[in-house]
Amino acid sequence: FSSVSTVVQRNPSFSTLNPDDISYFKQLLGEKSVIQDEDRLETVNTDWMHKYKGSSKLLLQPRTTEEVAQILKYCNSRRLAVVPQGGNTGLVGGSVPVFDEVIVNLGSMNNIISFDKVSGILVCEAGCILENLISFLDNQGFIMPLDLGAKGSCQIGGNVSTNAGGLRLVRYGSLHGNVLGLEAVLANGDVLDMLGTLRKDNTGYDLKHLFIGSEGSLGIVTKVSILTPPKLSSENIAFLACRDYSSCQKLLMEAKRKLGEVLSAFEFLDIQAMDLVLNHLDGVRNPLPATMHNFYVLIETTGSDESYDREKLEAFLLSSMEGGLISDGVIAQDINQASSFWRIREGVPEALMKAGAVYKYDLSLPVEKLYDLVNDMRTRLGDLARVIGYGHLGDGNLHLNVSAAQYDDKILEQIEPYVYEWTSKHRGSISAEHGLGLMKANKIYYSKSPETVKTMGSIKKLLDPNGILNPYKVLPHSLNS
Ligand code: FAD
Ligand code: MLT
Ligand code: ZN
Repeated sequence: FSSVSTVVQRNPSFSTLNPDDISYFKQLLGEKSVIQDEDRLETVNTDWMHKYKGSSKLLLQPRTTEEVAQILKYCNSRRLAVVPQGGNTGLVGGSVPVFDEVIVNLGSMNNIISFDKVSGILVCEAGCILENLISFLDNQGFIMPLDLGAKGSCQIGGNVSTNAGGLRLVRYGSLHGNVLGLEAVLANGDVLDMLGTLRKDNTGYDLKHLFIGSEGSLGIVTKVSILTPPKLSSENIAFLACRDYSSCQKLLMEAKRKLGEVLSAFEFLDIQAMDLVLNHLDGVRNPLPATMHNFYVLIETTGSDESYDREKLEAFLLSSMEGGLISDGVIAQDINQASSFWRIREGVPEALMKAGAVYKYDLSLPVEKLYDLVNDMRTRLGDLARVIGYGHLGDGNLHLNVSAAQYDDKILEQIEPYVYEWTSKHRGSISAEHGLGLMKANKIYYSKSPETVKTMGSIKKLLDPNGILNPYKVLPHSLNS
């Protein structure tokens, strides 16, 4: 794991597990939910990228909030460090232990508690897999306000804890707006019931926001209440080619203006990303096969009037074609073609994994500057590695990835701190949606002022005085022990 530049020391104030601890957990949860099996531990100790690896000897799978509370109360009194874990699809080393932390996986807490068809408010346990919620809602005539490539494994509790963005944010906004309430367990076992189902509630500090995006460092999210939009009858998706980045950017401005309320996704990938997908994923075809283009844009519209929406999209595409913003394009003719377009965009992370070692950066940048960084990185790296750019262009979110046959410190030295300095200089964010995790805990100052970070440290100290929750992550090491 030479790719991991963050070197940390185990916090000596943490205890190590002893047989009495195991007996306690078995008595509390039952034998089956206390897992010490080596193969299963190997899986939960290793992250999705196979880049971060811990050495935890214990996986716990609670079934109720009360069990989570008892686990944390016990771990806090024993000074046993804990990693909250959802679907383990995180991309910044946040979901796996660094050393021997106890893994608390929420996967067994996967019940839907209630759904109100009038308001569209869904209340469920944190371990519900996103795709299962999407299917459940589909039957009810609703959709989740978020969608992402990891939907088959990631859990809503993990999504909330990372404040996941994804493919629909451009339309429905972030989880800070869509999550109406949640329940969380603090390090000392206290349960904060903030599981409101109201659109409006201005009674004091809205503490639920602290847990949205805090990556398991302040508490374990056990239940979520979320506002879901109705499923609209007409969905269209276009796969387009652009000559250069400036055309992509102009196309975005036009799409916002001309497609207006029906625009539901605006994603892009560059020629390098397309090449990887075509070469590494089975059964993927280029929908615009005549020639390779420098950029591809995926535009989705969602509305309630089939002929009006289609007309609107077609008129927009025609004027964009006439204006020279797009050089080729196709609208999906059926649901299968639509999902094959999505497969290309959503398949980029998987294709990158298959291509070898990958350095991932997830940046918020002003749209007009965003691709300059990709070009700069290409100049810096030359033949050392491939630079790939894709992401949620509609949100100003670039996924800058550097792909190489293997991890190599020479490559890393060319990327960091350059990429963080570049982002900071343009007042961007070094994490648009994936979080800081272990990877960027020490880099937080590139995006947050010292006073802000100090206040975060005070909040951490207040809610988790012994620092047992997801140690070494999110906050810089000076504030993390
Ligand atoms: P995990 O990976 O298990 O955990 C992530 C973090 O949340 C960890 O710090 C963990 O400690 C904490 N955590 C998990 N559950 C809880 C809980 N119940 N209480 C407290 N803390 C908890 N992210 C995006 O934002 N947008 C995307 O489009 C996107 N696409 C992806 C595509 C792929 C193929 C992959 C592999 C990942 C993608 N991700 C994306 C990254 C990832 O953040 C999301 O997949 C997801 O939000 C993580 O959920 P999870 O359940 O897997 O959480
Ligand atoms: C995506 O948008 O595909 C995800 O955030 C995953 C990634 O960046 O690789
Ligand atoms: Zn993303």
